Amino acid sequence: MLGAVQLGLLAACVVLFVPMGMAGWHLSRNKVLFFSGALFITLAVGVHLTPYFPSVSDFVTSVSTSSVNVVVDDRASCVSLLHEIVWEVRLRGFDFDPMNNNSVNYEKSWSWKRSDSVESCEFQRLNRHDVSVLLNGSWVVVAGDSQARIFALSLLSLVLDPEGMESVKGSLFKRHSDYHTEVDEMGMMLDFMWAPYVTNLTSLVAGFKRNRVYPDLLVMGSGLWHMLHFVNASDYGVSLEILRSSVTSLLPVSSEFGNDESVAVRSPHLFWLGMPTLVNSMLNTKEKKEKMTDLVRGEYEREVKRSGMLRQFEGPLQLLDIGSLSWNCGIRCTDDGMHYDGIVYEAGVHVMLNALLIESHQKI
Ligand SMILES: *[C@@H]1O[C@H](CO)[C@@H](O)[C@H](O)[C@H]1NC(C)=O
Ligand SMILES: *[C@@H]1O[C@H](CO)[C@@H](O)[C@H](O)[C@H]1NC(C)=O
Ligand SMILES: *[C@@H]1O[C@H](CO)[C@@H](O)[C@H](O)[C@H]1NC(C)=O
Ligand SMILES: *[C@@H]1O[C@H](CO)[C@@H](O)[C@H](O)[C@H]1NC(C)=O
Repeated sequence: MLGAVQLGLLAACVVLFVPMGMAGWHLSRNKVLFFSGALFITLAVGVHLTPYFPSVSDFVTSVSTSSVNVVVDDRASCVSLLHEIVWEVRLRGFDFDPMNNNSVNYEKSWSWKRSDSVESCEFQRLNRHDVSVLLNGSWVVVAGDSQARIFALSLLSLVLDPEGMESVKGSLFKRHSDYHTEVDEMGMMLDFMWAPYVTNLTSLVAGFKRNRVYPDLLVMGSGLWHMLHFVNASDYGVSLEILRSSVTSLLPVSSEFGNDESVAVRSPHLFWLGMPTLVNSMLNTKEKKEKMTDLVRGEYEREVKRSGMLRQFEGPLQLLDIGSLSWNCGIRCTDDGMHYDGIVYEAGVHVMLNALLIESHQKI
């Protein structure tokens, strides 16, 4: 009997503290998490112990078991619903420019789908205050090509005021360069690293490992440059596999911990920025039209899946599916068939922030 109680307690601790420690440690320096964590622990310990105290169990079981199960089930199912976003794309009424057929003439907005399952996840658009609480004291690294750059810009636009944004745009969009900024009010550091090829991402990760400094939040994505300059999906796949194993070795593994206490205990939150939908007829050079076909893009997409780098396939990185967001927004959301309006990446940023909330059990 005693053994079973201890086993129950141990299980409760493992179930709770391991994921909490791994997922929520750094991003959660705030009272909200403390309370939600405390509640979660109370409930779970309650569930594991109540069977051994029959008099209490009648009273508690019905409430606590169901709450805990809901929390655990929701986590998995809500992550899969994060991209259930619908777009409204409307012709602009009065300032319509007949010389310009494209995206400027269309107003866009997005929202999460109104279905019972999506609504039950209570996804939310985070405002500046929410983001500053969530990312307080964090080091954020966004690395990749121009898609990653626009993504970084969208994230910054959630935390900076309009004047701040103007100066950011100037320096962030210097072609092919890195960018560093600190948002003092929330103690957040953001680095954009220009990394057009997967090999560049792998060197970046190797650098973190060498210096033993790890970002709290790492968003990476690359593929279009390789597609244009190499047109060789299997070569892309090889580089992704190398990146995957490099990222995997970045994560704390129990065996490494045992002997080496200096390894940072918290693990970064890792995201993969998927490739956008390409609208071949709109691509702005002949070379792009010839090389970046739907067929080739499909092959590149398959390599991402095959490489096993994504969470859905047991890998370390959670997908931010710019492919589906851009596809659903449609051709009125792009001018060059490759770079989409800021709002598409903004939706991606909110998907990421909600994924972080789910990981760290926070509700704002
Ligand atoms: C606008 O689009 C229509 C069809 O969608 C096309 O016939 C027309 O040439 C386009 N005009 C310009 C200025 O691109
Ligand atoms: C960030 O955290 C620090 C201490 O950890 C706290 O003093 C500060 O108020 C927090 N800021 C925000 C915006 O949450
Ligand atoms: C990225 O990788 C390519 C090819 O490996 C290399 O030529 C280039 O210098 C790298 N760029 C950066 C910014 O590291
Ligand atoms: C594509 O890349 C693979 C792996 O790097 C290589 O073996 C193959 O020769 C390349 N194919 C072409 C057509 O360059």
